[in-house]
Amino acid sequence: MIALTLTEVADHVGGTLTGTCAPGPTVTGTVTLDSRAVAPGDLFVAVAGERVDGHDFLAAAAAAGAVGAVGTRADGALPCVVVPDPVEALGRLAAGVHRRQVDGGLLTLGITGSSGKTSTKDLLGQVLAFAGPTVSPPGSYNNDIGLPLTVLSADEGTRFLVLEMGARGAGHIARLCDVARPEVGVVLNVGSAHLGEFGSPEGIAAAKGELVEALPEGGTAVLNADDPRVLGMAPRTRARVLTTGRAAGADVRAVDVGLDDGARARFTLAAAGEEHPVALRVVGEHQVANALSAAGAALAAGMTPADVAAALSAAEPRSRWRMEVERRPDGVTVVNDAYNANPESMRAALAALAGLPAARRIAVLGGMGELGAGAGAEHERLGRDAVASGVDLIVAVGPDAVGIADGAAAAGRSPGKESVYVPDRVAARELLAAQLRPGDVVLIKASRAYGLELLAEDLLAAAPDGTAGGAA
Ligand SMILES: Nc1ncnc2c1ncn2[C@@H]1O[C@H](COP(=O)(O)OP(=O)(O)OP(=O)(O)O)[C@@H](O)[C@H]1O
Ligand SMILES: [Mg+2]
Repeated sequence: MIALTLTEVADHVGGTLTGTCAPGPTVTGTVTLDSRAVAPGDLFVAVAGERVDGHDFLAAAAAAGAVGAVGTRADGALPCVVVPDPVEALGRLAAGVHRRQVDGGLLTLGITGSSGKTSTKDLLGQVLAFAGPTVSPPGSYNNDIGLPLTVLSADEGTRFLVLEMGARGAGHIARLCDVARPEVGVVLNVGSAHLGEFGSPEGIAAAKGELVEALPEGGTAVLNADDPRVLGMAPRTRARVLTTGRAAGADVRAVDVGLDDGARARFTLAAAGEEHPVALRVVGEHQVANALSAAGAALAAGMTPADVAAALSAAEPRSRWRMEVERRPDGVTVVNDAYNANPESMRAALAALAGLPAARRIAVLGGMGELGAGAGAEHERLGRDAVASGVDLIVAVGPDAVGIADGAAAAGRSPGKESVYVPDRVAARELLAAQLRPGDVVLIKASRAYGLELLAEDLLAAAPDGTAGGAA
């Protein structure tokens, strides 16, 4: 973060500084909500969470070297900026600091969509790093806490700031754009993630489009031309529109797409009248769309097509539990894609599984959360689609996934043999321990709340010779 006195912090957030005289000590480190992560020079923001209240850790933060805190009440342990709502204050602080950095030449790029935000952010962050100092932390910092923290992790030297923007309802993305107004806005797709909260795909499109509405006249909206609901956002922006996709008319296109034997895509990037080869290191054909969106944003930021293609080809997977492919010493391959799941990302993962060489393909699928009234039908459809993708064995885990096993059985898989339902992760582990043979590839995927990433870790730890697997 750029250095700020506590008086400057208080001015940005509209709070009252207590426990010191103006200008107060200077924050030279970072902003953190976790007292265990505090380092000397940091600013600690006390937030009352569901389980713990940050205000109980003000003394711990002081002992770890925090120079001050933002919270709803002061504490003798360290100087405090007192505010009614620390999360809102965090947003205000980020907004104030961001305005100063924009004046200093920082370019901000925002990414939204139903699936692939983190994957695209990770690609774009690595591509832009070719052109200049870039802030784009691994993980999924896309809400009212994560986004301001990302903004505040930039400093005077940062040239590009890549922000992931998530929405669970109307107005959320507009609010995030008020914290850090992007000049480049990327919309990936409109799917069914959080359909329960939004009510309809149109509701999701309305919310995601808030990003392009926030762009300035001189900015660029990077829209996925292969998704009609995304392309339909073009009239909602004042900014220039740059389209990406496989569609013939897209400004930034992928042609001659193929997969290598690790299900990693290769294609020719066609943009600005040039063509350059790209060989991705991330797994799954769905990453082509993400790579094109990242390419469009990087071109909007001034990079050349040749540099973009080279940087995309060098970009590594960065955030955990997204198509992590690991091979056990006994020749069983585990694909951990258990970060989250919705119908589109389930299908993307099944397609990637189909592209991996295997003696047998096994899909271990848990529930997809937050789908609303259509959840039962969606799970059943997924079971049918898993059969159509050519998977040899389908293991549906947990009560919310019953429909997957039913759908697979309805599509002709024999229940209890080729389509198995197990009640929980432990039962899944036992079944797989008995079933797995060298050459098998096991995909593990579910919404995050089901904790199936632990099953993937269990499977890797349970390799017959007792050693953990290595990266494949
Ligand atoms: N373009 C895409 N289309 C469909 N599925 C995708 C796409 N990109 C990624 N996925 C799938 O979605 C899963 C989540 O990817 P990622 O974490 O990048 O999405 P996200 O939008 O950041 O999710 P969240 O809303 O949880 O932050 C991945 O495991 C992958 O299977
Ligand atoms: Mg994410």
